[in-house]
Amino acid sequence: MRCQLLCTALFALHALAAPSWTATPFNPPSIPLAVRTPYLSTWLPQGQGVALNDAWPTFWAGQTVAWTGLAKVDGQSYSFMGAASVDGVSFIKATQKTFNFTSTQSIFVLSAGPVDLTVTFLSPVESDLAKLSIPLSYMQVSAASTDGATHSVQIYSDVSAEWVSAVTSWEVQWTTTKTDIISHEVHLVSPAKYEEVKDQSQYGSLHYSILNDPKATYQTGQDAIVRGQFLNHGVLKNTQDTFFRAISDSWPVFGLTKDLGNVGGSAKRDSQLKASVPSVLFSIGHIREPAIQYMLSPTVNQDRSLYFWSRFNTAADVISFFLKDYANALTTARTLDAKVEMDAAKISSDYAGIVALSIRQSLAASELTISKGANGKWNTSDVMLFMKEISSDGNMNTVDVVFPTTPIFLYLFPKLGQYLLEPLLRYQASGQYPNKWSIHDMGPHYPRASGHQDGLDEAMPVEESGNMLIMALAFARKTGDNSQLKRYRELFDQWTQFLIEDSLIPAGQLSTDDFAGPLENQTNLAIKGIVGIGAMAEIASRLGDNATATNYSSIAKDYVQKWQVLAQSATGPHLTLAYGQSATWGLAYNLFGDVYLGLKLFPQSVYDMQTAWYKTVINQYGIPLDTRHTYTKTDWSLWTAAIVTDQGLRTQIITGLKDYVANGLNNVPFSDLYDTVTGVSAGFQARPVSGGHLALLIV
Ligand SMILES: *[C@@H]1O[C@H](CO)[C@@H](O)[C@H](O)[C@H]1NC(C)=O
Ligand SMILES: *[C@@H]1O[C@H](CO)[C@@H](O)[C@H](O)[C@H]1NC(C)=O
Ligand SMILES: *[C@@H]1O[C@H](CO)[C@@H](O)[C@H](O)[C@H]1NC(C)=O
Ligand SMILES: *[C@@H]1O[C@H](CO)[C@@H](O)[C@H](O)[C@H]1NC(C)=O
Ligand SMILES: *[C@@H]1O[C@H](CO)[C@@H](O)[C@H](O)[C@H]1NC(C)=O
Repeated sequence: MRCQLLCTALFALHALAAPSWTATPFNPPSIPLAVRTPYLSTWLPQGQGVALNDAWPTFWAGQTVAWTGLAKVDGQSYSFMGAASVDGVSFIKATQKTFNFTSTQSIFVLSAGPVDLTVTFLSPVESDLAKLSIPLSYMQVSAASTDGATHSVQIYSDVSAEWVSAVTSWEVQWTTTKTDIISHEVHLVSPAKYEEVKDQSQYGSLHYSILNDPKATYQTGQDAIVRGQFLNHGVLKNTQDTFFRAISDSWPVFGLTKDLGNVGGSAKRDSQLKASVPSVLFSIGHIREPAIQYMLSPTVNQDRSLYFWSRFNTAADVISFFLKDYANALTTARTLDAKVEMDAAKISSDYAGIVALSIRQSLAASELTISKGANGKWNTSDVMLFMKEISSDGNMNTVDVVFPTTPIFLYLFPKLGQYLLEPLLRYQASGQYPNKWSIHDMGPHYPRASGHQDGLDEAMPVEESGNMLIMALAFARKTGDNSQLKRYRELFDQWTQFLIEDSLIPAGQLSTDDFAGPLENQTNLAIKGIVGIGAMAEIASRLGDNATATNYSSIAKDYVQKWQVLAQSATGPHLTLAYGQSATWGLAYNLFGDVYLGLKLFPQSVYDMQTAWYKTVINQYGIPLDTRHTYTKTDWSLWTAAIVTDQGLRTQIITGLKDYVANGLNNVPFSDLYDTVTGVSAGFQARPVSGGHLALLIV
């Protein structure tokens, strides 16, 4: 503890230094580079500012995944990405001038002598299900002269085999194929299906590719040799190293180059779509097949595959399509970026920045899958989305992690929400889960959806039962598709019975904020349960059962009356954290469900009272989660911002959160748990719950 305080203080002093480049909208704790799946999640940690060519990129969990960018301009060598050094060969670090991010892109401009290099990392967010599921990401490098003269430019990039395993003593094999694409494929010699080490997949392949072109070359081999070849000659030898070995044994790298030729006068940099801007496009990805194991019955495990396989036969097919689809992908991305920016900027520019930083991170925790039918063909009627509880414990489809993430699905693709609930619902409807409340997660570790036959999952009975009912209704409403409600009606009813028993006076149990420990009579948890009962009233009504709807609706209303008496502090005008503990309070973020669904179960006076109270307890970086600690959660903070009744307080919450994420004191992918006094992350990183930051876009 003591060290933590001291380190924070020292770090704070250093934080006075700002990055030397212009960052728009701000310099985040870590920059998303290739962020599309739990296993394709490559970042550039920042702290007070790290240029693209200052350090190696890392996997979200922190291990290095080397990715190099070198360029020659009129024969002079520059580095633009990574931290390579080559014995006996000198080169200059290009100077980073700007860094911009949007919802889908991270864009760096670096000057390499008389030429500016624009390096665009695009991780697409697609609504087409096949495209959505492609585990690949783009890097485009374009060059423009800044002095009016033309300059000869060659671009080089490589990756190491660290992208396929965190254990660098393990042996890898690789191959390069040249068709309409030039593609390096790298995999472990001894893969372990469905296994992870340090959160990296232990099976599947890395693919690093460009379109085939007379001006493109490739080479595989020892890092110093391949990089030295480019630095000395500006081209690679089109040869393969076939001495397969360990990842760190004479570090094999997988290089690609393109000669951009003579790069002319100051072309406009924002014209990436125009063929006239010389550029090279790389695709990077990690493909594994099958992707997910799902427990159908005690004796049958189903292998599930990424959705895109229904449209492509080989990895080369999908990579080729992906590279050729760049213009479409960029148009789609820009449209989405602009829509998000426009909607979020209506709240504030701080909010727009927070949301833009949240989107890739959130969606990259999930993978969309299908199965093969009895006929051996892909069954695109059997779609399931699987989400990894990144950085906390790796659980599958954790209900109380899916729940805070829902705003991104409700805003972008509500159908995905139904695909995300489907594995949980189907498993519990099959009778394999013994408890009367909702399961906590679909299995202890991604990518095995192995269920909990013994019912000994991390119990959060009221939390998860309420969450499932609220989400099922929200997604059915937004998609207009009640079929899931109909299919699993019995389960929904079972959970409602449980909530009727246990939500007004919740027994001692964990809520989603399990890191804060279990508690009896949690005020905010009771809200969750009551909103869940209210949600079931509407579910019943949607299924034509008005008698049940009326009954549940009146139970929910009755509970709210009783709750108001139990939940009120006797000493301060606020809700308590737990009944009877008058000095306690917390973020009553579960009211967001009532507001979003428009059930109007809880009276306006509750919102007004909490708003007035929060104004008196807010710290520099936000309102603490509750009276037990000074930390807070970013998702719950913004859910609270979405329901407070005072514009000034809403702005204060958003600004505090933005100040935390832009203060230069953190260097992990957007952490959702941080201290409201120091502005320093308190654990958790790269988690899907950043999708909850979109809450203000859906109310
Ligand atoms: C970065 O953002 C600024 C401010 O919106 C804009 O003027 C500039 O063109 C952007 N640069 C790139 C490379 O997108
Ligand atoms: C495809 O999946 C749906 C939904 O799970 C299922 O009802 C149907 O029987 C499956 N079709 C085949 C051919 O297996
Ligand atoms: C929980 O609240 C109920 C209703 O006020 C009360 O009877 C019970 O004693 C409380 N439990 C604890 C541990 O405070
Ligand atoms: C149920 O209620 C809805 C709206 O409240 C009404 O339109 C419908 O006719 C009712 N159905 C029955 C079977 O009473
Ligand atoms: C309302 O629901 C509760 C809980 O399921 C049940 O005990 C009660 O009998 C129901 N009342 C009516 C009028 O259906």
